[in-house]
Amino acid sequence: MRKALLAAGGRATRLRPITHTLNKHLIPLANKPMLFYGIETLVKAGIKEIFVNVNPGEMELQKVLGDGSRWSVSIKCIEQQGGPLGLAHIVKNAQSYIGNEPFIFYLGDNVILDSIGHMVEKFQRDNLDMCLAFAHIANPKQFGVAEIVNGKLVRIIEKPENPPSDLAQTGIYLYSPKIFEAVKAIQPSPRGEYEISDANTWMIEKGYNVGWVEVPGWWKDTGKPEDLLEGNQFIMSHFRFEDNKNGAKIGERVQIQGRIQIGEGTQLDENVLVRGPVIIGKNCVIKNSYIGPYTSIGNEVEIYNTEIENSIVFDAVDINAGTRIVDSIIGYNAAVNSAHATLPLGHKLIIGDNTVVEI
Ligand code: DAU
Repeated sequence: MRKALLAAGGRATRLRPITHTLNKHLIPLANKPMLFYGIETLVKAGIKEIFVNVNPGEMELQKVLGDGSRWSVSIKCIEQQGGPLGLAHIVKNAQSYIGNEPFIFYLGDNVILDSIGHMVEKFQRDNLDMCLAFAHIANPKQFGVAEIVNGKLVRIIEKPENPPSDLAQTGIYLYSPKIFEAVKAIQPSPRGEYEISDANTWMIEKGYNVGWVEVPGWWKDTGKPEDLLEGNQFIMSHFRFEDNKNGAKIGERVQIQGRIQIGEGTQLDENVLVRGPVIIGKNCVIKNSYIGPYTSIGNEVEIYNTEIENSIVFDAVDINAGTRIVDSIIGYNAAVNSAHATLPLGHKLIIGDNTVVEI
């Protein structure tokens, strides 16, 4: 298996305002763009050529991913002609790039911590045309859900009102070129998308050789800001902290507890308590502050006189809040200051479209 198709288009309307200016697949989780986790999973599975499905006109992803040389693979972005018309449409659109070869279809808003090498082995060993990956979840209504009868997978139902099992389809699919017949045969669903679940059901009903596995350790962005905080937590709880302080300048009154990682050139001084898991990027300055568990802080960030916990702070943010910030996502170059610093007193807000502020 040499090729993979990585989905990184779509609308991401529910993650506004962050996604007004940033492709959602580039949102940092534990200080790394969400999409990089998928690329690393594919590279570990032995993939050499990755085709990234992007919206027409998308430039930002191409710039960040480059030609793939940083992962020693080839990466090529392909535009989804006609726009985000569904996951099966992505596969159809990519046929000329994939050609007559098996491939992995991977959804870029999924993070899987375990290797998918065993799926590739199963696919090859059992000579499969399709191998799907399911995870047990409590409320699978927002997913494709497996219907299993007498131990056999009979179909996958997209976002069912009454799920027939608790097995949710994760964003990992292994296919032989037979899938191109399926994506051409299906019709759009009532929500107007070419559903990959319908293509998968078509493969089963056609009698093609289908297998599936269960995967543990899986996170998926279901589109809400709180999902991102959960994704950040999920990755940080499994993160391999090397307790690496990278020569950061750490003052005498600074206390560090738990697992942390600090980037080069960062300075922690005066009265600071950092309680991990915490990741802090490069060239940051943190003074008189508490940085609590599950907080990731980007590069070039300044934090003074603030308590912050369970939050994602992007690069180049300035915070001098004189208060406690929790469960927050703070975008590039944003500033959060104390309302007491200037007169008149009161909350002074300059906020973009679709921003959410809880005062
Ligand atoms: O993540 C697993 C789930 O993904 C499965 O359980 C569902 O069966 C499957 O339909 C899909 O459901 P979602 O509704 O959550 O898919 P979403 O619209 O979030 O798109 C998944 C990824 O694909 C995301 O990174 C955006 C990208 N995308 C989406 C569409 C519809 C595209 O690149 N192009 C598209 O046309």
